[in-house]
Amino acid sequence: MAIEKGAEIAPAKGKLGVLLVGLGAVSTTFIAGVEAIKQGIAEPIGSLTQMSTIRLGKRTENRSPLIKDFVPLADLGDLVFGAWDIFPDSAYEAAMHAGVLEKELLAQLKNPLQKIKPMKAVFDQSYVKRLNGTNVKEGQNKLEMAEQLMADIAEFKRKNKCSRLVMVWAASTEIFLKQHAVHKNLKTFEQAMRDNHKSIAPSMIYAYAALKSGVPFANGAPNLTVDIPALLQLANENNLPICGKDFKTGQTLMKTIIAPGLKSRMLGLHGWYSTNILGNRDGEVLDDPDSFKTKEESKLSVLEYILQPEVYPELYKDFSHVVRINYYPPRGDNKEGWDNIDIFGWLGYPMQIKIDFLCRDSILAAPIVLDLALFLDLAQRTGMKGVQEWLSFYFKSPQTAPGLYPEHDIFIQLMKLKNTLRHLRGEDLITHLGLEYYD
Ligand SMILES: NC(=O)c1ccc[n+]([C@@H]2O[C@H](COP(=O)([O-])OP(=O)(O)OC[C@H]3O[C@@H](n4cnc5c(N)ncnc54)[C@H](O)[C@@H]3O)[C@@H](O)[C@H]2O)c1
Repeated sequence: MAIEKGAEIAPAKGKLGVLLVGLGAVSTTFIAGVEAIKQGIAEPIGSLTQMSTIRLGKRTENRSPLIKDFVPLADLGDLVFGAWDIFPDSAYEAAMHAGVLEKELLAQLKNPLQKIKPMKAVFDQSYVKRLNGTNVKEGQNKLEMAEQLMADIAEFKRKNKCSRLVMVWAASTEIFLKQHAVHKNLKTFEQAMRDNHKSIAPSMIYAYAALKSGVPFANGAPNLTVDIPALLQLANENNLPICGKDFKTGQTLMKTIIAPGLKSRMLGLHGWYSTNILGNRDGEVLDDPDSFKTKEESKLSVLEYILQPEVYPELYKDFSHVVRINYYPPRGDNKEGWDNIDIFGWLGYPMQIKIDFLCRDSILAAPIVLDLALFLDLAQRTGMKGVQEWLSFYFKSPQTAPGLYPEHDIFIQLMKLKNTLRHLRGEDLITHLGLEYYD
């Protein structure tokens, strides 16, 4: 049943443990950022939960509190971090290696970052071909690995005296997997774990362990992971919120900003060519065709859903959409993304838009991790379970209820997110009708 208007929300008392799978560029940029904000040397730029306001009631009422004052979110001072990675480097060493943040800033944060040492990962190279590490668990079968993760989770919670936990997948993109019969329900899934079935990827083992341990789960990569009936069943049975997939940053962020604008003006599209160069570890992993396929699927669907070629064949039928990612080490995390957009207007006259986005992937992703951790925790304290579609705003291929198409338009996603918060607090939803001002 849907959550009622003005539902009771349990207070955010005690510490919130944020468990990160993968202690790479995104995770370390996120942790370092939160520590810098805690120390008062940085602002939480890019984070809705920290900086955005929410309008309530009529425009004449002048009620626009900060989101964090409107809904009871965990305080940044109450966040503690844990992680798993296949490399044993501490968060400080991993951040230095990722090369996203300046050495001077990291030096100021060395103390808290050095204390974060990754737990041994559940890893299998057949799912991420370009990586190999030593900090990995061993076990008889996949169910046993999940049990080891559950023991890690319990131990982390006890040691850090957390009252609540959330888990976010920020590890490498796995190879493309399709839903398989073993994903059908929890019983078949658990049997497949015992049988070491190849359709159970490591990311699914983490998600299973989280949900078994009462921990909400967000998937920041395009892997199937928690987007299968068995794990949705487990989330529902255990009253846990889940969301995914693939943080919306960089080029796809731009696409979901620009495409709704073109469509709103009924401008046509002949084609959209996107190419990137990036040189971080993510780029290296995505250089493998099987991992890239997972990413490509996630990136390609966005325009189809926003532009609705079946509704507007004159404007969008058969437009060409190409996405390329090229691994180019000199750029490190500072990706460059080019878009060439061939549009047409009145009488079919063609025009072009060129975008050259000198973007910093992990700088865009870090505040998403923060918001997702805080909102998932809020959702759990509110009793929201299953797929959290209102968090679509943060994802390239938002998870939805089975059979429901995802909403990609970033402006609709934002409205959905804010209206959900208004609903939770018993406020009227905002429709932007506005006729009442002219009565
Ligand atoms: N803007 C962005 O950076 C962005 C946007 C969308 C999605 N993503 C996704 O987020 C993920 C992280 O990106 P990143 O730039 O931090 O990559 P990264 O390569 O720097 O970090 C990923 C880390 O995960 C570790 N890892 C891999 N498999 C693991 C496993 N099974 N268990 C534990 N650790 C494991 C790797 O060793 C690595 O340290 C990637 O899947 C990426 O595609 C990133």
